[in-house]
Amino acid sequence: MTIHVIGLSGSPHRHGNTETLLDAFLEGTRESGADTEKVILKDLAYSPCRGCNACHKTGKCVVSDDAIPLFERILSSDCLAVASPIYSMGITAELKGLIDRAQFLWARKFILKTMFFSDEHIRTHKGIFISTAGLSWDNVFDAAFPAVTAFFNTLGFEYYDNIIANDMDRYGSIHAHPTALAKAAEKGRSVVEAIARLESGAREGR
Ligand SMILES: Cc1cc2nc3c(=O)[nH]c(=O)nc-3n(C[C@H](O)[C@H](O)[C@H](O)COP(=O)(O)O)c2cc1C
Repeated sequence: MTIHVIGLSGSPHRHGNTETLLDAFLEGTRESGADTEKVILKDLAYSPCRGCNACHKTGKCVVSDDAIPLFERILSSDCLAVASPIYSMGITAELKGLIDRAQFLWARKFILKTMFFSDEHIRTHKGIFISTAGLSWDNVFDAAFPAVTAFFNTLGFEYYDNIIANDMDRYGSIHAHPTALAKAAEKGRSVVEAIARLESGAREGR
């Protein structure tokens, strides 16, 4: 069975540090046999969540835009890679706007209880967070982790790993980083192998 990997690039800067790191990860997943899809969030048209809470009753979002079919594609993927540079100590507006729009799925799961992910589903669906930051601080990614954790939880993905590179102001470019791109590719290869192992184990009832 082919593993499907979807990568969301939340950077408004095309082919910058973060998208390049995502590309290296996706290349690694392809080397392990996955088929991949990259989505540039800034090229999609979606609005922020209105907070109307209609989805708490209906399980549906009242806004019909590019976010809705994207969630369908995410839910049918085995691996979700979410990429964002650090902007003002958090994730970009593009990514946060999309995460908030998953509220209708959160409502299905936690209020209406019409959506459910088994432990086995969560184990075989992996979420990866990819990020770059200008500062050298070790804790520069800390504010990004909770929103990404909530996103993976809502969508039924196990938060599997981070691929993060700080100190970009010093390096100037992710290409000048000594290890980031090679490590991202390696993590791409290994996550697909891990999912394949788990899925075949699940099929054999292990
Ligand atoms: C609007 C804006 C805000 C930023 N805020 C931060 C920040 O708070 N902390 C930080 O370490 N880097 C910050 N940066 C630097 C970026 O995180 C860094 O350059 C990153 O590698 C850019 O990735 P990209 O090439 O994908 O855009 C900021 C950059 C921009 C454009």
